[in-house]
Amino acid sequence: MLLELRIDRANARYCARTLAGDGAGTEIWTLLKAHGPQRTTVEVRFYLPERRPDRLAALGEKYRSSHACLWDQDEAMMMRREALSARERTRRKASAAPLALGALCQLRERLPLLIDVDEEPFRLLELEDGALVAHGTICPHWLGPLENAVPENGKLRCPWHGYLFDVRTGMSADGRGYRLAPAPMVVVDPLTSEVTLNARADCRLERRGEHAIVSPRSPGPRHRERRPAPEPR
Ligand code: FES
Repeated sequence: MLLELRIDRANARYCARTLAGDGAGTEIWTLLKAHGPQRTTVEVRFYLPERRPDRLAALGEKYRSSHACLWDQDEAMMMRREALSARERTRRKASAAPLALGALCQLRERLPLLIDVDEEPFRLLELEDGALVAHGTICPHWLGPLENAVPENGKLRCPWHGYLFDVRTGMSADGRGYRLAPAPMVVVDPLTSEVTLNARADCRLERRGEHAIVSPRSPGPRHRERRPAPEPR
């Protein structure tokens, strides 16, 4: 399949044409009209190389429903990114005390546990080998959600674009070079089995535009538990 994309920035519109392969001759025009900083009308027009009315109606409905779904997903992604970026702008200064999570046996019943440390969201969970780990729940790529990602063989896959992360270290597991927010360390007292969460003092996550980077930070956690975020549509 050969596609051509033409962008008319001056008129806020673009056209995707299928030049060869399945659907050759199809044109999809997307027209945008801004009504303010938070509001845009999106009109999508489909031009299909098909003359039979019944076939055209069926194809048209397929295009319409798939594009409606894609635009809804895009909107959910953009709203999440905007909310996270706004939160970053108002983030408060970090405090310093470790967080006591109680006895290990009681904590296990609450896992996986979502928790905010210094206003950065983390998830605490138990891996297959019994290790307790915390990991950042915001993908550093485009700030996708990781709080419901199921770890497989110690790796988390972002539901938005499929990037992989090592749940123990937060490092990229697919060679893309991204890294999750430095997670607090989970410490289990060998004598009392009391669990504490200790913030890492060496670095923090910063968001720049649509991405996130790790940089030096001041030490200390400030925390609150929270409920899971709703699934994006
Ligand atoms: S937002 Fe996670 S892979 Fe793109």
